[in-house]
Amino acid sequence: MVIGGAGYVGSFTANRLAQNGFEVVVVDDLSSGYKDAIPGLRVENIDIVSESAKLTNFFQKEKFDSIVHFAALLQVAQSMQEPGLYFRHNVAGSLNVIEAAVRGKVSGFVFSSSAAVYGNPQKLPIPEEHPKNPTSVYGETKVMVEKILEWYWKIFQFPSVSIRYFNASGASKDGKIGEDHPQETHLIPKIIRAVVNSQEMTIFGKDYSTPDGTCVRDYIHVEDLTTIHIKALEYLQKHKGAFVFNAGTGKGYSNLEVVKMVEKISGKKVKFSFGERRPGDPAQLVADPSRAKQELGWQTVHSKLENIVSSAWLWHTTHKDGYKK
Ligand code: UFG
Repeated sequence: MVIGGAGYVGSFTANRLAQNGFEVVVVDDLSSGYKDAIPGLRVENIDIVSESAKLTNFFQKEKFDSIVHFAALLQVAQSMQEPGLYFRHNVAGSLNVIEAAVRGKVSGFVFSSSAAVYGNPQKLPIPEEHPKNPTSVYGETKVMVEKILEWYWKIFQFPSVSIRYFNASGASKDGKIGEDHPQETHLIPKIIRAVVNSQEMTIFGKDYSTPDGTCVRDYIHVEDLTTIHIKALEYLQKHKGAFVFNAGTGKGYSNLEVVKMVEKISGKKVKFSFGERRPGDPAQLVADPSRAKQELGWQTVHSKLENIVSSAWLWHTTHKDGYKK
C-alpha cells in the first residue's frame, strides 16, 4: 500500500514498485495528488485523517505486506500559520495509518520524514544522530511521527524505517511525471517557471555565511528517493527495529548555483532579484548519507544537479499547468 501515492515522491515510488512486480494499491484523497501521475494503478480514495474506520476495514480486508506512507502537508510557512492543520494531518493522520497497520499485521512500514527534523545544523554534513530541533511545526510533525514509530517498535515490535529527505527534486527522464504542487514554493520549479513565463523571481537572502551568501541545499533526485524506499522495504525483510536514514547526496549547491544551472540547461537568462531572508531558512542543509550507503547499500545515481535540473526543465516546459494539461 502506498499512501499518498498520487503525490510527487509517492507517484514515482508507486510506479517503480509496480514496474518491479509488486502488487500496488495507492491510497490517496487526491487533495494534492493526481491519478495521471500513476496511470494504470489502483487508487482508493480514503482520507486518512477523517476516515480511520474505513482505513482499518480496508487493511483487514486486503492484508497488505508493507506500507509506504507519504501522505502529508508540506509547506513550512503554512505550518507556522495553521499548526493545528499540520498536527491533525501529519501526526493524527499518520497515527491512524500506524494503528491500522499494527492491527492489520503489516510487516514493513516506510515513512517519509524530512531533514526539517534537524533545524539549524550544529554540524555539517548532518548525520542521523544530530539533535532534532525543528524550527517549524512541519518539522515537529515529522519528529513526532518518528517518535510514535519508536514507541510502536518497543511496545508492539512494529518495524519501520523513516527516511529523512533533503531537497526532493527532478522529474522522470521522459518528462512525463514530475512535481506539481497546488502552491509551488520550491526553488527549482520557481526558477524554471520564471524562465518559462518570462517573469522575475526572488532569491531569499544574500547575506548568509556561505561562499556566495545564498543558502545551500542538498538536492536529491526523486528517482534516487524512490530507490531508497525500495531498499528500505527490502531491509525490513531482514532487520527489525525503528530505523532512520538520511536521503541526500552529501553535496550542497547554493541558490545562485541552481540559478546558473537553469541558465545552462535552458540557454536563457534567469530574471531574479534578491529579497529578504525567508523566516526559518537555515544557511546550509547537507546530508551525511553514509548510514544509508552502509546499511541499505543505497547510492545516488540520478542526483547530479545537471540531471535534476534538465529532467525538471523537460517536465515543466511540457506541462506548464502540471497534470491539468
Ligand atoms: N528559495 C528562494 N526563492 C524561492 C523559493 C526558494 O530563494 O522562490 C530558496 C529558499 O529560501 C531556500 C532554497 O531556495 O534557501 C531552497 O528552498 P526550498 O523551498 O526549495 O526548499 P527548503 O530547503 O526550504 O525545504 C525543503 C522541503 C521541506 C523540507 C526541507 C528540509 O521543501 O519540506 O527541504 O530539508 F523540510
